[in-house]
Amino acid sequence: MANVIVGVTGGIAAYKAAELVSLLGKQGHAVRCIMTDAAQQFITPLTLQTLSGNPVYTSLFQIQESPEWQVEHIGLARWADCMLIVPATADFIGKVAHGFADDLLSTCVMAATAPVFFAPAMNDQMYANPLVQRNIAILRDAGYGFIDPVEGNLACGTSGKGKMASPQQIAAVLETLRKQDLQGMRIVVTAGPTREAVDPVRYITNHSSGKMGYAIARQAANRGADVVLVSGPSSQAVPANVTVVPVQSARDMFAAVQEQYSSADVVIKAAAVADYRPKTAAAQKIKKSDGDMVLELERNPDILAWLGEHKQNQILMGFAAETNDVQQNALGKLQRKHLDFIAANDVTQQHSGFGKDTNQITVYGADGSVTALPVLAKEDAADRLLDLVLQLYQARNK
Ligand code: CTP
Repeated sequence: MANVIVGVTGGIAAYKAAELVSLLGKQGHAVRCIMTDAAQQFITPLTLQTLSGNPVYTSLFQIQESPEWQVEHIGLARWADCMLIVPATADFIGKVAHGFADDLLSTCVMAATAPVFFAPAMNDQMYANPLVQRNIAILRDAGYGFIDPVEGNLACGTSGKGKMASPQQIAAVLETLRKQDLQGMRIVVTAGPTREAVDPVRYITNHSSGKMGYAIARQAANRGADVVLVSGPSSQAVPANVTVVPVQSARDMFAAVQEQYSSADVVIKAAAVADYRPKTAAAQKIKKSDGDMVLELERNPDILAWLGEHKQNQILMGFAAETNDVQQNALGKLQRKHLDFIAANDVTQQHSGFGKDTNQITVYGADGSVTALPVLAKEDAADRLLDLVLQLYQARNK
């Protein structure tokens, strides 16, 4: 988790800085806030102090009150892993672009060696003004990051591009700073449902959205792993720096995973693979008749069981989506499929299961370990699963 400075300048979007500070705290980051004089016209230091749990810095000349650092702007700048300017007014952007450093926040930005991101918020005409755009270009060229504003209703009563990005979008830039602790690992992730053709227009499938598998692939790539995502049909956005192999049926997925297996260090099987497929997929559309219809199904290969049988040194993590006897079923799969971990969840629970953004997982390890995770966003749950995989990988490769 990172040390983050949130620098607040004077715009109406300053109130959203409070939400950002709260969000960053919940995500486990340490946050310190710096406010310009103008920012304090919009929200009070007390708000940010309460939400960050740290003193708020408002003046270059605060040193006597806060003896923590000898030279405050340098100390703060050194402490930060990242600085976020939220909101960034046209004035502040212009000031930094031209090298002015006449208050605590601008001196800190000047002294920072950590990445600095600006989240502009202003009237759409101001944002479109060529001077503002030129200043933004100057800062981009100098290596500063921007979290671009979006279209929306603006405080001045108009609507257009100038509304600050959401606190969630701003917090997401920290993902790009995450330490690259999975570098050198090749991870194959499977995600989504499979589709088993009945005829050219019909298929059998399940409710899997692919969210969990995509979250694992995204987080693994963010942490520097070389990631291949073998995905059944899913509407999830393709994560950056991930090689996606799209598949339809369980047999397609089996072939794709087999191809990747020998070069994989880790396989995480989050896909909901259909256990059965229609015995024959009709070449032409099946026409209805008056009577009932019987569809004969045959077993699909169990991909994970095959991986377990042919394991060399790969770490295998399976998923068990259960509706009852979660622990017993999960442990059965762990043993039967020769897994290193099984991530089990009860899909009948409110916070877990198909299409949800959260999950409550308990991970059982082949060494007898049990890790009960709380209800977490799928991204955070993905990170915790990857932490477990990394621990085992490091123990094996000491
Ligand atoms: N799995 C697989 N190939 C299959 C079926 C499942 O690779 N044909 C993988 C899933 O990706 C998941 C794990 O096996 O990681 C558990 O899937 P599940 O269908 O719940 O397990 P089964 O052993 O098939 O048990 P059951 O159907 O009795 O619940």
